[in-house]
Amino acid sequence: MVSQSAIEIDDTPRVIAHRGANEWYNESTITAYQIAAETGVDSLEMDLRMTKDGELIVMHDETMDRTTNGKGKVSDYTLEEIRAFRTMESDDSKEITEKIPTLKEILETFHDTQNYYIETRLVDEKLAMEEKLIQLLEEYQLLDKELVTIQSFSEESLMKIKELAPDTELALLFRKGSFSLEKAHTVDFPIIGIESTDVTKKVVEELHKKGKEVHVYFINKKTQKEEQERVLEYEVDGYFTDYIHFTKEILAH
Ligand code: G3P
Ligand code: CA
Repeated sequence: MVSQSAIEIDDTPRVIAHRGANEWYNESTITAYQIAAETGVDSLEMDLRMTKDGELIVMHDETMDRTTNGKGKVSDYTLEEIRAFRTMESDDSKEITEKIPTLKEILETFHDTQNYYIETRLVDEKLAMEEKLIQLLEEYQLLDKELVTIQSFSEESLMKIKELAPDTELALLFRKGSFSLEKAHTVDFPIIGIESTDVTKKVVEELHKKGKEVHVYFINKKTQKEEQERVLEYEVDGYFTDYIHFTKEILAH
């Protein structure tokens, strides 16, 4: 694992701030990432979406509805149109806060002070965001400094990244219920991302034998803490956490 200074290398599990410090602020906003950075997490996790005019923004959902005061698909809006909307608390408060960040704005905010853990996806089932992403990461000189991990549920997307930037650290994600040890063994990516309920001692041991790291994500916030404690026993290598302090505490014991 590359630390924030990009100098030390250690094998303690990575604390990956899932959509920023979303426990305390609107997910996937610059403020949520700033709070996460201040807590000293290992990586800032973020999801990419592409606007109608091909710009990369940081947002999890395909549509604007849950986390912004806009409606409909992100891909139906140009970046300029998206500028008119604001992020919104997804809880009952529906509090409106700041603008929806572009990836460029995130990189402009943090430069090389953080590790980035960026999720790509296909757009309308086609490769679309990879070239733009690599271009931006190169512009900010983050790839040379080994500050970036790219994750995806799409093997095709990761293969494209590998073609464009062969030395980038890559993580293949498996959807809940679809994890296959056989498949994970066949792919040439150093990190395998698995939903927590699919993580067993055997899975972790077998992947470790093949030299792969296991990073765990959590779908259910209500059971996430107990799931984090359960997989801790198996010595997993990374936590996409929604509860940064909690994860740091269990790892410290
Ligand atoms: O990237 C790991 C995890 O974030 C995958 O699930 O839906 O939260 O992006 P999701
Ligand atoms: Ca994600």
